[in-house]
Amino acid sequence: MPLATTASIVGTAPGGVCAFNIITLEHAEAVAAAAERVGTPVILQVSENAVRFRLGRLAPLAAAATAIAAAATVPVALHLDHVTDDALMYQAADAGFSSVMYDASLDPYEMNVARTRAAAEWAHENGLWLEAELGEVGGKDGAHAPGVRTDPGEAAAFVSATGVDALAVAVGSSHAMTARVARLDHALIAALRAALPVPLVLHGSSGVPDDELRRAVEAGMKKINIGTALNVAFTEAISRSIAQNPSGADPRPRLTAARDGMIDATAHLLRTVAQRSQV
Ligand code: G3H
Ligand code: ZN
Repeated sequence: MPLATTASIVGTAPGGVCAFNIITLEHAEAVAAAAERVGTPVILQVSENAVRFRLGRLAPLAAAATAIAAAATVPVALHLDHVTDDALMYQAADAGFSSVMYDASLDPYEMNVARTRAAAEWAHENGLWLEAELGEVGGKDGAHAPGVRTDPGEAAAFVSATGVDALAVAVGSSHAMTARVARLDHALIAALRAALPVPLVLHGSSGVPDDELRRAVEAGMKKINIGTALNVAFTEAISRSIAQNPSGADPRPRLTAARDGMIDATAHLLRTVAQRSQV
């Protein structure tokens, strides 16, 4: 099946859409396999951090993700995540990505608007869908900041000033949580949904329990970004494999266990999020 686009998946899904961060080939294979198992579309995300891990090169992981997405029997799109470097964004279209999340959320409001507006203009000239962030979702530097919130009035002004296609908002989640204990502000999600003409994006969703994710989608959250949950499944499976066979030198049984663990975790989250939204 040809590569899907983020715009088409987000625009047509009746419920929430999962976007999973991939770091290795096994992550991408696991996400595609899980989406096929559940029968839902899915978005594969590569973050600027993941590019840094891949020795600063986008092309190798993007090429693998493109091939895996194209071979899938369900729609799969590619999204470039948390981009702060314009030079990386400019590589997106040629590398197979249909969307970019441009992250100027650490900048003061006016600077965030100016940089995001320029990014959105470039993205639209190049046929890409652009997501931005307002009200910094914590944890990107390793520290959780679950108290940060996005103001609906400011968010509406931001969307109108920048022309973005989707907005990541701070509603109680935080990046890189390995325990699923986050509590979301569902009234704020509903207020943001009512105030904004574009889909809402939840970042740091690994730390959000299933029932909170379901309620968030019901309240109007659309794109659900998940990364750490896959890494938890990966690392648990590898650790079990090493404990069971400490001297095994072949990485394949370990990576097979890691991929299988990620498939199960991903399939569970896809089922949880793909319910029909009430709004
Ligand atoms: O943009 C990526 C997500 O926000 C992932 O966050 O690793 O905490 O699930 P997470
Ligand atoms: Zn994020």
